[in-house]
Amino acid sequence: MTFHFEVPQEKVPTLGERSFLQIGDKALALFNVAHQLYAIDDSCPHQGASLFGGRLAGKVIQCCAHGLRFDLASGCLLNSTQLKVASYPVTRVGEQVFIVMDAGERHE
Ligand code: FES
Repeated sequence: MTFHFEVPQEKVPTLGERSFLQIGDKALALFNVAHQLYAIDDSCPHQGASLFGGRLAGKVIQCCAHGLRFDLASGCLLNSTQLKVASYPVTRVGEQVFIVMDAGERHE
């Protein structure tokens, strides 16, 4: 079962920007790359550092802590499927933006 979290308009990042979202006890980072939105957990699967402030190159985010790089679309470590940050589908309905999460991920 899934639920759709509606991203407040002021939190929808413009082109090239990112925003931080707190959904229940979950912290997410939302990126706008080439007008495509990507949502991931703001927690590196290596040792838990924030990915929100990481260096972005295309749709690859590099963790500030130890430099691992993750594909925003799949959440996977580059050239590997061994390490993966949770990523969430993002949908648009007109001006509204929704992040699709499993109901169990709500943690409210
Ligand atoms: S905590 Fe992100 S690379 Fe180590």
